[in-house]
Parts: sequence; C-alpha cells; structure tokens
Amino acid sequence: MSDPAPLAVALQGVTMTYRTNGHAVHALAGIDLTLRQGEFVCLAGPSGSGKSTLLHLIGSLDQPTSGTIRVGEQEISGLSRQESALFRRRATGFVFQTFNLIPVLSGFENVEYVLLLQGVETSERRQRVMAMLAAVGLAELADRRVTELSGGQQQRVAVARALVGNPPLVLADEPTGNLDSTNGESIIRLLRRLNEERGTTVLYSSHDPRIIAWADRVLSLQDGRITEDRQQTGHP
Ligand SMILES: Nc1ncnc2c1ncn2[C@@H]1O[C@H](COP(=O)(O)OP(=O)(O)O)[C@@H](O)[C@H]1O
Ligand SMILES: [Mg+2]
Repeated sequence: MSDPAPLAVALQGVTMTYRTNGHAVHALAGIDLTLRQGEFVCLAGPSGSGKSTLLHLIGSLDQPTSGTIRVGEQEISGLSRQESALFRRRATGFVFQTFNLIPVLSGFENVEYVLLLQGVETSERRQRVMAMLAAVGLAELADRRVTELSGGQQQRVAVARALVGNPPLVLADEPTGNLDSTNGESIIRLLRRLNEERGTTVLYSSHDPRIIAWADRVLSLQDGRITEDRQQTGHP
C-alpha cells in the first residue's frame, strides 16, 4: 500500500459557542477531524447542525471557542486578524451559499480581484481569469455585471473566484443550495472535476441527497457533533 496523502486539515477538540443577548448557543460541541490532501468530502446535516460554523472556522473566517485547527502546515486557531486574511488569500477558496459577489463589478472583475490581491501582473491575470471563466462556462458573459446574471451563473462566478488562485483547499457552504437541480449538478460536477484534475482538497456542505452522492466521504453533523464518518464509492 502507498503512504496516505499528507494531512490537509486537522481539528482537535474544536468547540464554538455563540453568545447573543446573554445566552449561549453551542454550535460545535467538540470536533475531531482530519482530511487528507485530495479528498472530496461532504459535510451533511440538517439546518442548524453547525455546517456553516465548521466551514467558517476551517476557512479562518472566525475563531473557535476552544480547540486547535491546522490547515496544511499552518496552525490557524491563534492567528491575528491580519494573519488570518493572509492565510485566507493564500490557502483557501471559499464558496458562500449566497455567492457574496461584488454587485457593481462584472464576473471578470469579481474573479480578477483575488489575483489583484495576490499581486499577479496584468497579462497573467487576464489570462488566468479568462481560463477560469471558460472552465465554468462563462467566458461569453465575462464582462456582464454580476447582478445581470442568473443565480446559477452567479454561483459559477463565485466558484471561479474561489478557484482562480489555485488554493490547495476549497470550502463550499451549500454551493448548490440556491440553485435548481440542473444548475446545482453543474456546480458539483465542476468542483469534482477540479478535485480530480488538480488534486484540490474539497469540503462542501449539503443536505441534498443528490449532491451528497458526489462525495467519496460523508461526515454527518448533528447538534454540533460528527455522528457518522463514512466512505462511499461510485459517484455519478
Ligand atoms: N453568528 C451567530 N450568532 C449566534 N448563533 C449562531 C450564529 N451562527 C450560527 N448560530 C447558531 O449556531 C447553530 C449552528 O448554525 P450553523 O453553523 O449556521 O448551522 P448550519 O449551517 O448547519 O445550518 C445554530 O443553532 C445557529 O442558530
Ligand atoms: Mg449553513
């Protein structure tokens, strides 16, 4: 047998408690989890089970109440705001359920923004953005303002933005949640293809059985705990 792939993500004893108006919500109640490089993993669980919280913590968009989180070689649980921002830019692509695109910009400009932050020079930027938009089937609509695109097209821009920097880890929070089944399937196919072609580690959340079916490994989350961790074969 070959050696297992290196660790992409490692969480130990991660808890997250939100405090609002004097009362506490225990969103994550002790998560231990490792993902290896190149895995394609679905985080499944009902609404309120903690999926978004867990993805936000791994993406360093938020800090855990306790426990440690490592992504690649980096311990991220104790980073300052500025260090977190640098880490996000370098190491992760995040696809939000509600797209989070910049409305006044075109699809091209939304995707280009990532490479601007990374200091990639103009001609390489243009070439990489167009290649990525072509990969998601949006080359023709590159210059259209994102508010003039359909939901499925906007989500494809959001996926292109998450992937254009070639991050080793992609986190996608219900990336098909706001889409009809045809558009949803094209998004999950695209993530799967990038995983297979580039070896990108992908962790996505969903509660749709048709979308969960694409994963090699399914983590079930219930009340902030992982209640099942199973492998599955034969994705569509
Ligand atoms: N910013 C927040 N402030 C207070 N409670 C929150 C916040 N975000 C999530 N929660 C609560 O934490 C729990 C888990 O939420 P979430 O991670 O969004 O679950 P999911 O994505 O699976 O629907 C829920 O009870 C939710 O109400
Ligand atoms: Mg959520």
